[in-house]
Amino acid sequence: MNGVLRFGVSIPPDLLDKFDKIIEAEGYDSRSEAIRDMIRGYIVKRQWISGEEDAVCTISLVYDHTKRGIAEKITDVEHHHIKEIVTTSHVHLDEENCLEVIIIKGNSEKIRDFARYLLSIKGIKHGDFIIVSTGRGIE
Ligand code: NI
Repeated sequence: MNGVLRFGVSIPPDLLDKFDKIIEAEGYDSRSEAIRDMIRGYIVKRQWISGEEDAVCTISLVYDHTKRGIAEKITDVEHHHIKEIVTTSHVHLDEENCLEVIIIKGNSEKIRDFARYLLSIKGIKHGDFIIVSTGRGIE
C-alpha cells in the first residue's frame, strides 16, 4: 500500500511527555518519524527472532596477536564461513593489539550464533556485534 495512513493512539500524558523529550533530544523533527522508526525497529527485531529474514552483522574483535593461537583460530573460523562473510578488515592497533572487523550476511539466527562463537574465543580482549536489517521488507 502506498502513501501514509493516520491512526489515533491513546497514551497517558506523562508518558507522551517523556517520549517527546527523548525524541527531541535525539533530533527527531516529528513524533510521527520517531514512531515510524520504532515500528520499523520492532518489525526488524521480530523478523530476526523468527529467523525469517536475512540480516547483516558487523563483528568487532580486539585481541593480542602475540598470544599464541588466537589469530589462527579467528582465521580458521573465517575460512569455514566464506559463503556468509562479506568482508573482513584487520587493523594493527599497536605493538600487540589488533582489531578484526568482520561483516557477515545471512540467516539472523546463524549469524548471531557465529558472532557469539567468535566473541567466546579465549583470548579475545573485547568485542561486540551489531545486527542490522538488510533493508528488505521495511520502508
Ligand atoms: Ni594486527
